[in-house]
Amino acid sequence: MNYLKKSVTEVDVRGKRVLLRCDFNIPLDKKTGDITDEGRITASLPTIRYLLGQGAAVIACSHLGRPKGKWDNSLSLAIVGRRLGELLGQEVKMAKDVIGEDARRLAENLKPGEVMLLENLRFHKEEEENNPEFAKALASMADIFVEDAFGSVHRAHASTEGVSHFLPAVSGLLLDKELYHIGGALENAARPFVAVLGGAKVSDKLDVIINLLHKVDTLLIGGGMAYTFLRARGYEIGLSICEEEKLEYTRRVMDKAEELGVRVLLPVDVRTAREYGNEEPVVYPASAIPADRMGMDIGPETEKLFADAVRSAATVIWNGPLGVFEFSNYSHGTRSVAEALAECKGTTIVGGGDSAAAIRGFGLADKVTHVSTGGGATLEFMEGKDLPGIACLLDKE
Ligand code: 3PG
Repeated sequence: MNYLKKSVTEVDVRGKRVLLRCDFNIPLDKKTGDITDEGRITASLPTIRYLLGQGAAVIACSHLGRPKGKWDNSLSLAIVGRRLGELLGQEVKMAKDVIGEDARRLAENLKPGEVMLLENLRFHKEEEENNPEFAKALASMADIFVEDAFGSVHRAHASTEGVSHFLPAVSGLLLDKELYHIGGALENAARPFVAVLGGAKVSDKLDVIINLLHKVDTLLIGGGMAYTFLRARGYEIGLSICEEEKLEYTRRVMDKAEELGVRVLLPVDVRTAREYGNEEPVVYPASAIPADRMGMDIGPETEKLFADAVRSAATVIWNGPLGVFEFSNYSHGTRSVAEALAECKGTTIVGGGDSAAAIRGFGLADKVTHVSTGGGATLEFMEGKDLPGIACLLDKE
């Protein structure tokens, strides 16, 4: 996949109306409806400020949640518009619809230096269908399209891909940053290059593992997925999560790693519980977990092993928690990897989703090079797939 895409900084936006696709799909408190993590809103600010500074009029748009083509007031973007206005220190004109009369009137009257926000794109089923008429209607409000919704570039939707057939399409500053850091690590990493993979299941990361095997020097495997690897080595793993149907696959991965000269580090000890919960952990060697216990986190020896590998790397990419970090007794492994990333002098990239939430939760997000704003998008990027929201942009000249 070609990561060299034309950036918003390489086109003239002065006096133009810019359709800016952001990813404002942020978590909301189920009871109060309040924003619980505004990371994706703050991540959009550099591009919006840049565009305003250049004298463009900004028509921002996004989806929120999965309303499946139906209007749902609880998923209105008005709350995002208000917060965005506070953060920008200027009014964000909130449209009452997406491509209706209100949005069109606001867009027509929008002046250079002003910002408006369309309603939730997914209130129209045509958005996810990538309907050309819908994409055309969105595009008709603007002169240029700026794609900055990195978290959504794995979706071929009207606002992420469709509009590029009607407007010149370039990347925003957030997308530039994601492409530079993650694309840079995948294409041309400084060595040693270490990947840390965690998360519950091997099956969620099959393609990531294969793609990374061809790129990294060392692969550290923790989290629930480690137990399938340990089982494949013939170890007793007790009640730990194991994907029997993936045992053969994990054996092949380990053979391939050996063939490619990639060092694969698995846990050497684990923190175990009798039941899934926050009970006091007991540490066992990873090769001998008792039949009535389950592995819930990597153990202290593994923490040291993994932290040493991470600290001495020139490039690290981390995706997926090392244990059940929602439980304080089983958050040690995830925390120690996060701390090692923070101490590492090389380029350190946190690959979105749970790991991004974890590093923010530990207060270490500003100690790493890059925390990705993507969830599924980051994973598909790390799998080496062509992502429609990136592929559709103009190439760098
Ligand atoms: C995300 O949160 O990963 C993106 O906003 C995409 O959302 P989706 O999975 O509903 O398409």
